[in-house]
Amino acid sequence: MSRSLVIAIDGPAGTGKSSVARGLAIAMGARYLDTGAMYRIVTLGVLRAGVDPADAAAVAAVAADVEPAVGHDPGEDRSYLAGEDVSTEIRGDAVTKAVSAVSAVPAVRSRLVALQRELASGADNVVVEGRDIGTVVLPAADLKIFLTASAEERARRRNAQNVAAGLPGDYEAVLADVRRRDHLDSTRAVSPLRAAEDAVVVDTSDMNQAEVVAYLTELVEQKAGVAR
Ligand code: DC
Repeated sequence: MSRSLVIAIDGPAGTGKSSVARGLAIAMGARYLDTGAMYRIVTLGVLRAGVDPADAAAVAAVAADVEPAVGHDPGEDRSYLAGEDVSTEIRGDAVTKAVSAVSAVPAVRSRLVALQRELASGADNVVVEGRDIGTVVLPAADLKIFLTASAEERARRRNAQNVAAGLPGDYEAVLADVRRRDHLDSTRAVSPLRAAEDAVVVDTSDMNQAEVVAYLTELVEQKAGVAR
């Protein structure tokens, strides 16, 4: 009998992190926890309350009462705010613009980290995706993966997504934005984005999603062999 495995997947946007984390969870028959969705749900609650996302004290007050819930099926993307299905709304522009400010508020982080630890516990395998899973949320995870890709490649992918969505393409502007956000994310005071010391760093610049999932599945199988 093998014991259950906890897999942490961190890294910046544009590395294919969500698709890879879901793909790995499906391959492992594991539960999946999208912690970014939880920050997005709280952000939607803050916006609906009419609070300025830059007002940390007001954000903390609203966030204390928001009840975020996320599905754990990797084949589905389901998010709830006080029982209401907000899966589409949390991916919209308004939430995407405000979520950095809301997720930088320490009271928001401590509440969500506690909830994430609770949701990640249990008898079955789980893949937990975010920015600080290996460093802060689950430092004892069985396997920590940190996905990276060059700023140019992440900008290229995002620009292609914009064009596919019917927006005007502007690679240079997207690249400047990727670099600006990298700097903000890695230098912020609370939970800066960085790889845990014992994380396996995987550069996805020259790999497609299937190749990354296959590589991670191999790493998990090695771990499972050791844990057995
Ligand atoms: O992965 P995403 O784009 O859905 O994440 C939304 C935001 O939440 C993003 O600005 C980073 C932040 N986040 C975080 O600070 N910590 C996490 N564990 C997950 C996401």
